[in-house]
Amino acid sequence: MDKKISKPKKGLTGRITIPSDKSISHRAVIFSSLANGTSIIKNFSTGQDPASSLDICKSLGINAEFNSKNELYITSNGKLTAPTGDLYCGNSGTTMRLMAGILAGQDFNSTLTGDQSLSNRPMKRIITPLSLMGAKIKSNEDKAPLEIHGQKLHGIDYTTPIASAQVKSAILLAGLFADDKTSVTEPYLSRNHTELMLSYMGADIKTDKLTITIGKSELMPKTIEIPGDISSAAYFIAAALIVPESEIILKNVGLNPTRTGILDILKQMGADIEILDKRTISNELTGDLKVKYSNLKACTIQGDIIPRLIDEIPVIAVLATQAEGQTVIKDAQDLRNKESDRIKAIVTELKKFGADIEETPDGMIINGKTKLTGGIETETYHDHRLAMSLYIAGLLCSKEILIKDFDWVKISFPEFERLFDTLLT
Ligand code: S3P
Repeated sequence: MDKKISKPKKGLTGRITIPSDKSISHRAVIFSSLANGTSIIKNFSTGQDPASSLDICKSLGINAEFNSKNELYITSNGKLTAPTGDLYCGNSGTTMRLMAGILAGQDFNSTLTGDQSLSNRPMKRIITPLSLMGAKIKSNEDKAPLEIHGQKLHGIDYTTPIASAQVKSAILLAGLFADDKTSVTEPYLSRNHTELMLSYMGADIKTDKLTITIGKSELMPKTIEIPGDISSAAYFIAAALIVPESEIILKNVGLNPTRTGILDILKQMGADIEILDKRTISNELTGDLKVKYSNLKACTIQGDIIPRLIDEIPVIAVLATQAEGQTVIKDAQDLRNKESDRIKAIVTELKKFGADIEETPDGMIINGKTKLTGGIETETYHDHRLAMSLYIAGLLCSKEILIKDFDWVKISFPEFERLFDTLLT
């Protein structure tokens, strides 16, 4: 489905509740499948990516049912059973990499497959450490499909060359089944939902700065309430900051510090964002945000903040076109390995809007403030975050834009348009 969009007649106003966090939803369903008993997941994501994780858990013998309140009941005896066919991960890198860690240590074989985008994403980053633990994984030149021959695993001390929560999680999950302790050290801290949830479910896991150590553990079934996704909230935050006369309240936004890089950067850029009510649910921090239209100034984004805002960089690029001065984004080369090459994709598309933006090997340089013109057709590269970032750019255009294949938003955020309409009317 294509989507047409142009400048709204007035600012965004009102309040919405941000839907469930995608990263935490994957972990809730996958980890509950490993616990002996019934877990209850409240506020499970409606996105297609977490649905891929849920389908795979069902194919591995887990019972999953939604009750009338849309709470997801996962029942397992703590053991997975051999699947009868391939396990299809769709577009979801998190599903493939986390499941590979778990499946490597089972007493059966399995094959993980994905869509065209996922079949082109790098898997060596997990194959290397898992193989060091004794895993037997056959790939297509380090890409999916991954044929996993379940093995007895042993622990390793591993230093990852990249700060990636998916890599860290794959190793830690394999560590749950290994005979001795496993530790992972990353160059910068990536999102720590795996560590928080495994600890909540009783695993033997400890964090010491950038090193996480895990021992063989049995998980306990739990009630897990999932906060809203700050990566989804980012599009509403961005829209309210750049559409004049906007003032909105976003309820239930996950505020785990390993994910709030965008809030730190926006503060530096002069954004008017207030955190209203911080609380902890199921070991994760959450809160409400009040966001008002603001005059933004440029900034430099690099180093250890990158993993804390990696998924928000395309929409930050849109914001930077409206910030006074030169915004420089560095150290973000792994953006080229996401659902699309997000550096190339956002730079190419924002140029069509008239933005002053240049690609660099590990990021981009954006000079602001520029008027975005519109009257164009823009591509999503089959990437949900591109689709939503381009929608935000469209809100600034006096002439209508057409976003092709806008449906890709459903990967993480099927409620996106409905919630936007609530704030625009
Ligand atoms: C995710 C980790 C990040 C992020 C992705 C979700 C996760 O990927 O980009 O959208 O749930 O662990 P990397 O770990 O590859 O950086």
